[in-house]
Amino acid sequence: MKKYVVAITGASGIVYGMTLMIFLAKAYNVDLIISESAFSVMSHELSPELKDIESVKLKTKDLDVRVYSERDFYAPIASGSNKIDGMFIVPCSMKTLSAIASGFADNLITRAADVMIKEGRKLIVSPREMPFSSIHLENMLKLSRLGVVIAPPVPAFYHNPQGLEDMINFVVGKLLDLMGIENDLYRRWNG
Ligand SMILES: Cc1cc2nc3c(=O)[nH]c(=O)nc-3n(C[C@H](O)[C@H](O)[C@H](O)COP(=O)(O)O)c2cc1C
Repeated sequence: MKKYVVAITGASGIVYGMTLMIFLAKAYNVDLIISESAFSVMSHELSPELKDIESVKLKTKDLDVRVYSERDFYAPIASGSNKIDGMFIVPCSMKTLSAIASGFADNLITRAADVMIKEGRKLIVSPREMPFSSIHLENMLKLSRLGVVIAPPVPAFYHNPQGLEDMINFVVGKLLDLMGIENDLYRRWNG
């Protein structure tokens, strides 16, 4: 079975990462890493109950998902010897973006991303900020030149979204497309 890593950092739009993780867990092996800052954004944006790793483990207990703290460098995904088919960072904060762009692997998310880059594996990063500064854009360009896919969570309107769920599914569906994973989460443009 294919194995994917989903990392959620402390940027707005935690729902994208959670929706992606739940979709993947239906058919694949999933390792989920949540940064410490992400817990505070998650409890604010999704539910006050989702405030720490134990509460996320409880929420995902029926899924094929292993949840890791950002401090867990003993996790298999910290090593290039562990075979991973792809990694998503959704949403990706400017801090994590910057750390990856400069090889500053001080937590499990930035270390796993560093491993993906050095091993030539697929890494999809969904940076969330508005507006982007030149620092952010330079970091994205640097990663893009290394083969990292930069896919910000930008909604579209050509599929006539009927609400928030359609807009979330559009972004998640596009991220899955970029990894080459079949999905029908959004209505495609047929001309
Ligand atoms: C409610 C809330 C929303 C935030 N949204 C963003 C955001 O959209 N983009 C961003 O780069 N940082 C955002 N931040 C700041 C990050 O959480 C902060 O820079 C943090 O250090 C990121 O750490 P991490 O990358 O390890 O998760 C937000 C913080 C809070 C409390």
